[in-house]
Amino acid sequence: MKWITHITPLFLLLLPLVGNASKLNETTDGSQFERQKVVFTPELAESMQALYRDKVGLFIHWGPYTQLGGEWEDTRGAEWIMRHARIPVPVYETAAARPFNPVKFNAADWVALCKEAGMGFMVITSKHHDGFAMFESAHPYNIRDFGSFGRDPIAELHAACKNEAIRFGVYYSQSQDWHEPGGDGNSWQGWPALNQEHFENYYREKALPQVEELVTQYDPLFMVWFDTPGRFMSPEIIEDTMALVERHQPQALINSRIGGGYGHFESASDLGMMPCVNTKSWREDLKVPWQTHSTVSGTWGYAAYKKELHEDPNRSANWHIYSLADIVSKGGVLLLNAAPNELGEIPIGQANVLRRLGRWLEVNGEAIYNADPSPIRNPALPITQKFGKLYFQIKEQASRSVSIEGITSPLNR
Ligand code: GLC
Repeated sequence: MKWITHITPLFLLLLPLVGNASKLNETTDGSQFERQKVVFTPELAESMQALYRDKVGLFIHWGPYTQLGGEWEDTRGAEWIMRHARIPVPVYETAAARPFNPVKFNAADWVALCKEAGMGFMVITSKHHDGFAMFESAHPYNIRDFGSFGRDPIAELHAACKNEAIRFGVYYSQSQDWHEPGGDGNSWQGWPALNQEHFENYYREKALPQVEELVTQYDPLFMVWFDTPGRFMSPEIIEDTMALVERHQPQALINSRIGGGYGHFESASDLGMMPCVNTKSWREDLKVPWQTHSTVSGTWGYAAYKKELHEDPNRSANWHIYSLADIVSKGGVLLLNAAPNELGEIPIGQANVLRRLGRWLEVNGEAIYNADPSPIRNPALPITQKFGKLYFQIKEQASRSVSIEGITSPLNR
C-alpha cells in the first residue's frame, strides 16, 4: 500500500492504516451522555444514523429581534435584546414584532445555500425566547397574523427542503417565553413571580399546543430542538412533550435541552466542545453522537452592528472548517448557525463562509461525513477514521514532516 497524500488548503492527509485502531476512549465524566428512558425505535435509529452521517447542519436564528438589529437604545445584544434591554412587551410588539416584514425572504435561496455548504439538514427557530411564533399558529402572536408579512416561513422552508432532499428541523423555546406571564424568563414586566402551577398552565395552553402545531403542520420533521429547559420542566411535562412528538412524528429526534436528562442526543453547551473523544452515548448497534453549535454570524440572531461579519465577502472559513474536523474527531456533530437579517436575506459575509466550508467538504468530505472519531483519546490534532484509514487535519504546516504520537498499530506505506 502507498501513502496517499492529499493536500488541500488545510492539508488533509489520508493515511491508510492497517491493524486495529486502539479502542475508543471515553471521558470519565460522561454522566450527561446517559439519557433517560431512550428507546431507539427503527425510525429514530434511522434519523440518528442520518445525523451521524451528515455531521453538520445549518442552524438559523431568525425572528423579530432581527428587526432591532440586536440593539436597543444603548444596549447591544442579539436574540436576547428584549431581555437584555428589558424592553416591555407592548414596546417590543410595536418596535420589533409588528414592523418585522422580511419581504426578501426566499426559502429556496436558503436551502440552496445549505446545500452549497455541504450540509444535509437545517434547524430553524420556530419560536425563540421572545415568544413570537415564526409559523402559522392559533396563538395570535405569530408571523402570519401579527404583522403585515402574512406568510409562514416555516411552511415555505419545509417545502423547499423537501424539494432538495434536505432534512428539516425546528428549534422551539419551550420554557422561556418573555411574552407571556406564565412563560419563564421575563422579570422586568412586573408580573407575579412564577411558580410551577402557573408555568404548567402556560405550558399546556401555549407551548404544548404549538409543539402540536409544529408536528402536525410540518411533516416530516427531522428534529425538534428544544432550548433552556429551566427549573419548571417536570419529568411529567417532558414525557408528555416527547410522547406528543413521537405520536405524530416517530422519526423526529429530540435534543437534550428538552430537560431532565431526556432527549435522544446530548446538545452540549453553546460553542461547547468535548475536551477529548467521547462515545459514551453509543449503543451497541447505533452510533449516537453528541452535538454542539457555533455561528458564522458572531451572535446567534442578527446583530447589525457586527458589520464586517455580514459585509465582507472574503472572510475566511478556516476556523469553522478546523472546528468541524475537531468536533467530528471527538465524536460530535455540528449545527453551524447563520443569522438572516430583518429583510430575510443571509448576508454575503456569512453566506460566503458557508460556501467555503462547502467547497472544502466537496474535496475532503470523505474525512468528515459518516466518519468515526479518533482512536486516540487526546489527539493533538483532529483525527477521524473510516475504512481502515485515519484522516489527519493539519491546520498549519511548518515543514513537510509531521510527527504523530500514540498510534500503536503498524502503518503501511
Ligand atoms: C442559548 C440561548 C439562545 C440560543 C441558543 C443556541 O441557549 O439562550 O439564545 O438560541 O443558546 O444554542
